Amino acid sequence: MAKIAVMGHGVVGSGVVEVLYKNRESITRRTGQEIDIKYILDLRDFPDSPFHDKFIKDFSLIENDDEISVVVEVMGGLEPAFTYVRKCLEKGKSVATSNKELVASKGAELLRIARENNVNFFFEASVGGGIPIIRPLHQCLAANEIREIAGILNGTTNFILTKMIRESMSFEDALKLAQQLGYAERDPSADVNGDDACRKICILASLAFSNHIYPQNVPTEGITKITLEDVEYAGNWGGVIKLIGVAKKMEDGKVLTFVSPALLHGDSQLANVDDVFNAVLVRGDATGDVVFYGKGAGKLPTASAVVADVIDVVKAHGSSKSLYWNETEDNFVGSHEKIDTSFYLRMTADDAAAAKQQIAALFGDVQTLSRKHQPENELAFVTGTDTDEKLQAKLDSLHGVDILSKIRVLDY
Ligand code: HSE
Repeated sequence: MAKIAVMGHGVVGSGVVEVLYKNRESITRRTGQEIDIKYILDLRDFPDSPFHDKFIKDFSLIENDDEISVVVEVMGGLEPAFTYVRKCLEKGKSVATSNKELVASKGAELLRIARENNVNFFFEASVGGGIPIIRPLHQCLAANEIREIAGILNGTTNFILTKMIRESMSFEDALKLAQQLGYAERDPSADVNGDDACRKICILASLAFSNHIYPQNVPTEGITKITLEDVEYAGNWGGVIKLIGVAKKMEDGKVLTFVSPALLHGDSQLANVDDVFNAVLVRGDATGDVVFYGKGAGKLPTASAVVADVIDVVKAHGSSKSLYWNETEDNFVGSHEKIDTSFYLRMTADDAAAAKQQIAALFGDVQTLSRKHQPENELAFVTGTDTDEKLQAKLDSLHGVDILSKIRVLDY
């Protein structure tokens, strides 16, 4: 019998306990041994829980119990999660976590410590909730040179944008709904300002390109500036606005990576990924595009990925050889301002006719967009391709206009 401890009893933690007990029989069949939860660590009290006898508040009970071979970390946040996980690995206990912040900031270090102690540090649930993506990336796609990864990596923002697109719901109402459904982070600003998606693209990029990509180096923009007007213009263009994380290997060895809202054409692969669903497109040299799709947030999808890691840990002999990347303090992030894309622009003009003349002179042929009840002095259009730098120089030379929105057009 494998004895495990679960650190954290929030949305995902309670889901892990539920899945482990509900599917006990099939899990035992798959692992060849029973998995039993000995401790659940949480500072709160859960007197009505059927597992109330398992709750503890003192981490040292887990650390010093040699019977515990596997620890699940679903507390979230960097501390004390990092200290606890490090101590568990150093004591020869494998760890399965859903904690994106921890993996994105400390992944390389924890993978090294796991190796040194011949145990595993698994984090399938940290990206894409219930979608298997970490394991496919380092095992199934191992024969490929991965060129590029692009994904819708945050369920909350995708849910909000879907509500704005389909129901013209306000940003605030859609966010409230996402929180009620248990999709959002404890502090939802990490969802809406793009930090959560940033952590996830960092994990994928580190794994795909073998050097740690740190969140603080990744240009990140969330969806807080997206308005229902932008959504309507995007629809008029034939597409949607999505929050996209991108990581692409460049010739100089750097990784072009960023998180930002993007206009996607209606027939592109990621445009129809709606609600809380996530999708990750992996472009390999041998496979071409492979797309992983499923529920990216929520209690049971995420818990299922954590429990799958626990099952793998119980079955594993020694540390995984393929799950690692280099611990380095160098910045491998290349400049995203140099890539050529089209842009969607929305602006108000003091004099609409004069602004149109300037736009034609600077941008040449643009695709003009319209919406219902469009004010006469509001202009919206999609440009030809330009780098961010060149586009910004053109925008700086426009006079008598106020730029309201500038969103990249991507083709995933
Ligand atoms: N808040 C996250 C999301 C949870 O909305 O995607 C899953 O990581």
